[in-house]
Amino acid sequence: MSKDKKKRVLSGVQPSAGQVHVGNYLGAMKRFVHLAKEHETFFCVVDLHALNTVKDGKELRGYTHSLAAAYLAIGIDPEETVLFRQSDLPEVCELSWILACNFPLGLLERGHALKDARAKGDKVDSGLMYYPILMAADILLYKANLIPVGADQKQHIEMTREIAQKMNLAYGEIFPVPEPMIEEATGVIPGLDGRKMSKSYDNYIGLFETEKKLKKKVMKIVTDSLGVEDKKDPQACNVFKLYKLFADESQQAALADKYSAGGMGYGEAKLDLFEVMNQELAPLRESYQDWVSRPDDLEDVLRQGAKKAREEAADTMAELRNAIGIGPLP
Ligand code: TYM
Repeated sequence: MSKDKKKRVLSGVQPSAGQVHVGNYLGAMKRFVHLAKEHETFFCVVDLHALNTVKDGKELRGYTHSLAAAYLAIGIDPEETVLFRQSDLPEVCELSWILACNFPLGLLERGHALKDARAKGDKVDSGLMYYPILMAADILLYKANLIPVGADQKQHIEMTREIAQKMNLAYGEIFPVPEPMIEEATGVIPGLDGRKMSKSYDNYIGLFETEKKLKKKVMKIVTDSLGVEDKKDPQACNVFKLYKLFADESQQAALADKYSAGGMGYGEAKLDLFEVMNQELAPLRESYQDWVSRPDDLEDVLRQGAKKAREEAADTMAELRNAIGIGPLP
């Protein structure tokens, strides 16, 4: 298949404690695999972003490898995608400083990650406020056009669009204005308690949980208190919301019928969900375990990716440095 070179796709995921979860997978990463077949794709492990929360060097390296293994296990092919580690390109920090000098502080203060942390009374490092600027730099450094993410990243992409427009107005057309790709069906994947699946709510299902743990977590999904005989609404049920994203159409119709007919308890629906999830995730789990046991190979993949990413970054930075008047004359 020939790729649409005109549209460059970029996205990133933070390496943090534990593995990526089903929300990351369904909301973003699963789509990366399909997009890589049709577009030029850049996917990264955003370890600089993770510095806001991970304060142990050894741990961060481990999380970075775990996330790189996850990308590879779900089917990202480093031959067709530029798969890289954010911090391998110092250019991203240089660009983020330049963008920061052109971005109103008031907008950063409205950032939802910062507001949430303050509302919870968390100790906030400056990096958390600066976070959207670094994300804008991730996107603009590679002149990306399309950004597949979950709904929680919408505000960050709006900020990126704003800054790209502002920079273009001030310095000439340098950056494409990127478009978010957020899917209605997968924008917010619910966690075990029905809130957005998130590590910070501790309501997540790890993508590579063992079969036993996966089953245990699925059985914990919160449902309403209707009894076995009651007719139930599949669309209002967290179990069915996840089932729809793993099952084919005839499986979905069959389970929806069981909900509406009555006579089926939620425990039975949960077992059906476990079956379809396990079927999709079992081979991914195996591949993940294999990759994670080969840190040297993971390093090779990331280094190769960084080399390719750096060629793009160098071009953008040369153009930008010249336009804004820093560095020697080209
Ligand atoms: P992060 O690491 O929090 O999440 C990675 C991706 O998973 C999506 N996601 C979800 N989608 C649907 N439902 C959920 N419950 C759910 N939980 C997480 C996120 O929306 C995201 O797409 N700031 C970003 C990382 C980043 C980035 C970038 C993304 C840094 N630079 C450049 C795109 C482009 C973040 O923290 O994602």
